[in-house]
Amino acid sequence: MNHNLTVERLSVQPEVSEVNDIAIEREPDRGVEPQETAVKERSSRTLNIGFIGDIVGASGVKLTTRAVPFLRQEYQLDLCFANGENAAGGLGINKAVAEKLYNSGVDGISLGNHAWGKWELLETIQEDLRMVRPANGHKTWPGRGFAIFETAVGLVALVNLLGGTFMSPSTSPFDEADVLIPYLKDELNIKYIVVDFHGEATAEKIAFGLAWDGRVTAVLGTHTHVPTMDARVLPDGTGFMTDVGMAGPEFGVIGMDAESALRRFTRRLPSRYQLAKGPAILNAVILRCDVDTGKTLALKPLTLRDQDIPPRVDVNQLKNESE
Ligand SMILES: [Fe+2]
Ligand SMILES: [Fe+2]
Repeated sequence: MNHNLTVERLSVQPEVSEVNDIAIEREPDRGVEPQETAVKERSSRTLNIGFIGDIVGASGVKLTTRAVPFLRQEYQLDLCFANGENAAGGLGINKAVAEKLYNSGVDGISLGNHAWGKWELLETIQEDLRMVRPANGHKTWPGRGFAIFETAVGLVALVNLLGGTFMSPSTSPFDEADVLIPYLKDELNIKYIVVDFHGEATAEKIAFGLAWDGRVTAVLGTHTHVPTMDARVLPDGTGFMTDVGMAGPEFGVIGMDAESALRRFTRRLPSRYQLAKGPAILNAVILRCDVDTGKTLALKPLTLRDQDIPPRVDVNQLKNESE
């Protein structure tokens, strides 16, 4: 167990990130099925959270920065999170790329096994209270395993855990969660907890989701870059999806150039990973959460391509033109 992290957690407690555009009253948004009717009957106000799968490379960043303002408006998001472990050149992330994402409306960034793909992040992550690296990483790692966001309807924690199967966490994600989640819920009084479970094995992610069903808002899988068709609310109210997918080149091998990936498979030779060229695709999931219980009422996975996002209307320009 990574005891040092507990000290770090305490140190970030008073630091709560700002969240933009909180609307207290609004119509329930459209497009969430199949539980849409039930949602409308139960509550006129939900906490709406968007989560984007692993962002891969410049085309993934570009599509994300276009998509986030659209998603925020379309789904009346209170918060938008994204996994950014492949955002800078396909491997890791740095401060400049993170700033681009934040400026577009991403509130929090989670990472994974490629957290340190860009070494310079080691020097800047400590200052970034909106970014989370795996909580079950090594005790010497800078940064933190969770981030806290304030909304009009309560505190939200974004947690990052690294799977224990085919991965190399320092501690088991299950053991880490046993300490971290009660701490967030009971000591910090956080109502909504969104876990990015960054794992290779589908079974491990499902097992984790069921183990924490009813005690966290959502368990969302990342890392494989391929969205699974199993987004659902678990029996006790935790939103779950084995893998959200990615925002990156559509016609590559999980975002990487097919030819360089093929060399590894066909010739068993090391091959420098290169980003795939061509248009990007964005996979995300929208959570609608009960403001009374902090559980998920409904969730909707979605896929966007560039052509799905309407051009942004510049209201000031329109005003000027009409004068
Ligand atoms: Fe990963
Ligand atoms: Fe990834």
